[in-house]
Amino acid sequence: MNPLNIVILAAGKGTRMYSDKPKVLHALAGKPLVQHVLDCAASLQPQQVCVVYGHGGDAVPQAMQQYGATFVIQEPQLGTGHAVQQAIPHLKNDSRTLVLYGDVPLTRHSTLHQMQQAGEGLVLLTVNLDNPTGYGRIVRDKQGDVQCIVEQKDASPEQLEIREVNTGIMLAPTAKLREWLGKLGNSNAQGEYYLTDIVAMAVQQGVPVHTVQPAQRWEVEGINNKNQLAALERIWQQEVAGKLMAQGVTLADPARIDVRGELSCGRDVEIDVGCIFEGKVTLGDRVHIGAYTVIRNALVAQDTLIAPYSHIDSSEVGANCHIGPYARLRPGSKLHDDAHVGNFVEIKNSEIGKGSKANHLSYIGDSTVGSRVNIGAGTITCNYDGANKFRTVIEDDAFIGSDTQLVAPVTVGKGATIGAGSTITKDVPAGELTLSRSKQMTIVGWQRPVKGKK
Ligand code: UD1
Ligand code: MG
Repeated sequence: MNPLNIVILAAGKGTRMYSDKPKVLHALAGKPLVQHVLDCAASLQPQQVCVVYGHGGDAVPQAMQQYGATFVIQEPQLGTGHAVQQAIPHLKNDSRTLVLYGDVPLTRHSTLHQMQQAGEGLVLLTVNLDNPTGYGRIVRDKQGDVQCIVEQKDASPEQLEIREVNTGIMLAPTAKLREWLGKLGNSNAQGEYYLTDIVAMAVQQGVPVHTVQPAQRWEVEGINNKNQLAALERIWQQEVAGKLMAQGVTLADPARIDVRGELSCGRDVEIDVGCIFEGKVTLGDRVHIGAYTVIRNALVAQDTLIAPYSHIDSSEVGANCHIGPYARLRPGSKLHDDAHVGNFVEIKNSEIGKGSKANHLSYIGDSTVGSRVNIGAGTITCNYDGANKFRTVIEDDAFIGSDTQLVAPVTVGKGATIGAGSTITKDVPAGELTLSRSKQMTIVGWQRPVKGKK
């Protein structure tokens, strides 16, 4: 088969988004619309990908530069045919060219693959709609062969009755496409160069025209406003939820989970309502995720329980841990097996050893905590002097009394105990009790002040 070129049209302004951001950079499932299209394009292993952009200056090429696509500006925008013309100089002749749309994010690989298999010639992706208003109609002859596409504004009353419409996505032999685009005119109702006019040219030259239909209607739905964006987001989330359940994941409510990236789950995973997963998240067997938890780029090992309202970002959690409710693991945190991190505990860039616990109201930053350590309520690592960050080391089996401040850099030795309410500024010896607080005293007979007379 000939190599594949892909042209992604993304020059439209997106007026109805009422946004300063180009339409195709708005996110669906946490990813810009055009990136969905680029990812699907990449899955077809094309020889060349060309993105035609227009509005928003260099915002689109800048946001998508890591994709290795060629970016071509279309200025002014004179129609879909004119848009593809801008890409033509970048395409090799002995290939086929697939035209995709930057604002049609959810087309599936399988559908595009089916188009590639449909035969030589021109391949159109079409759908039948109960209400075809606004779309280009697929005009067929008595034998059912495609004759042309006629746009809504140029259609006769009989043609307006046609329910089969053009999705815009098409596949054409590149050399022919080049030739046909060169012959396009703009004498039509909109004064535009219509890409769709190449269909009649193909028919005239006896080039076969095939049609393929997507398995799902949403695969070809475009986005013009925030309502359509939200509707497609819900459809996508429903799809993802359906796949998770099909793999055995228990979702308290499939309508109340948002996956903005890639979520992989082991067996017997349970996820309560309102959870958000971003980036790459892996949950081991029997992990339970409590309601309204947000997890981004993290690994959670088997049998761990995450209680409600916890936030986990770019961290690793071992097996059989207990996190939350209301815990926050910031980037660079690594919890070993059997660790407990409770409510209102914030951990950043720290390692917590096996079986260690910080159950209440603490900040552990830039720290290395050994195994079986108990960190009392309200303990704070003072890791920042206003200019630089320092590390705290707490060795195995240490016991840190409640409301301790550990002023880093500082090391607490193995098995050391720190008395509650201490401010620790020097290293703490192993195995001993260390405390730093003024002695309790009582002033006998002391009287509370009373309010003075006015
Ligand atoms: C187009 C098709 C129509 C089809 C419909 C499906 C043509 C002439 N018509 O109509 O048959 O049913 O899509 O939605 O192709 N774009 C550019 N540069 C331009 C013009 C458009 O990049 O100069 C991009 C837009 O950003 C958009 C896409 O092409 O993503 C479609 O353009 P739009 O003007 O919305 O086409 P329709 O009139 O809807
Ligand atoms: Mg238009």
